[in-house]
Amino acid sequence: MPSADPRAHRLLEAYRGRPTDCTPVWLMRQAGRYQASYRALRQRVSFFELCRDPDLAAQVTVTAVEELGVDAAIIFSDILVPVVALGVGVELTEEGPRIAPPVRDRAAIEALRLFDPVEELPFLLEAIRRTNRALAGRVPLLGFAGAPLTLASYLVEGGHSRNFIQLKRLLFGDPESAHLLLDKLATMVVRHLRAQVEAGCHAVQVFDTWAGILAPDDYRELCLPHLQRIFAELEPLNVPRILFGTTTGSLLELLRDSGADVIGVDWRIDLAEARRRLGPRIAVQGNLDPCCLWLEEPALERRIRHVLEQAGPTPGYAFNLGHGVLPGTPPERVRFLVDTVHRLSARPSQTTR
Ligand code: CP3
Repeated sequence: MPSADPRAHRLLEAYRGRPTDCTPVWLMRQAGRYQASYRALRQRVSFFELCRDPDLAAQVTVTAVEELGVDAAIIFSDILVPVVALGVGVELTEEGPRIAPPVRDRAAIEALRLFDPVEELPFLLEAIRRTNRALAGRVPLLGFAGAPLTLASYLVEGGHSRNFIQLKRLLFGDPESAHLLLDKLATMVVRHLRAQVEAGCHAVQVFDTWAGILAPDDYRELCLPHLQRIFAELEPLNVPRILFGTTTGSLLELLRDSGADVIGVDWRIDLAEARRRLGPRIAVQGNLDPCCLWLEEPALERRIRHVLEQAGPTPGYAFNLGHGVLPGTPPERVRFLVDTVHRLSARPSQTTR
């Protein structure tokens, strides 16, 4: 990544456990509805149209980097974009994503069509190439996918769920079909992430947003083998592999054993404890509560300072929110957050390389 911008290297260095000039920061959902520029675009085009238009997707990705001063771009897309290519009907409604009909039995699972991302998602790969051209090496670009469990939750429940009854009925009542579904999704994730790296992504993140709904024994039995296969198959690509989940305090050792290089955690766990339990081999990312972005600057700064203190001085840490930027977040506070992380963590005697 040829660039004089110090932001070009600090995130990947932190992911590799090396010292950096200051703590790198990027945010989940850093491109989205809290931005006036994004809302203006969405007046004209639907969400999935936006995802399928390489110029607009690249523009949204780059605008977030320019407005916020973050140390990474994350490609504008969604974990449900590849699900459409499986042959499933996906819509985005006021209440969130809707999958119709839901995938609830063996026949529906067998009908899911594994595909070649180069054939079915050329718009995404082109958006990645155009984003890198526009970024010109200023910051790395992250690719992403949903984890099998989190993708399965949308497929089986048909959308957002409170109690995940249908999902758990499949997972616990028919584990053989559940494993078939999770295995197909894992294959899709590997192909999807490999294609994103081949198109130019410098690191990949797997979102297991709903990991915390399972007991450790169930997560070990149903999810871990599929995550292990995903990360093992991505290893030859030699890019940092990040695994994010929420409410994972009781699952951290299992996430550590997934083979990911970086684990993202939310605010429900003490960051110092997370670093201790994950050990020196794993970099950690997190974990400010996104609601803190509504605080006045001094109170927000205290919260940021607390997260940095909990993260400690050991390299191998990147600042992030514990979950995505929420719609309605004051945009100027997001910029303040990024600048404050850089200011409070500056280590002038060190360089990024
Ligand atoms: O800037 C970025 O982080 C990149 C883009 C991105 C989006 N979704 C855009 C988006 C990323 C990385 C995601 C990941 C994603 N999508 C996850 C995992 C991370 C998480 O937040 O837990 C999940 C579970 C989804 C599924 C999904 N997509 C949901 C639940 C929703 C509705 C959310 C809501 O607030 O209404 C979406 C839609 C979506 N994905 C939006 C954006 C910007 C809102 C779209 C709009 O209304 O314009």
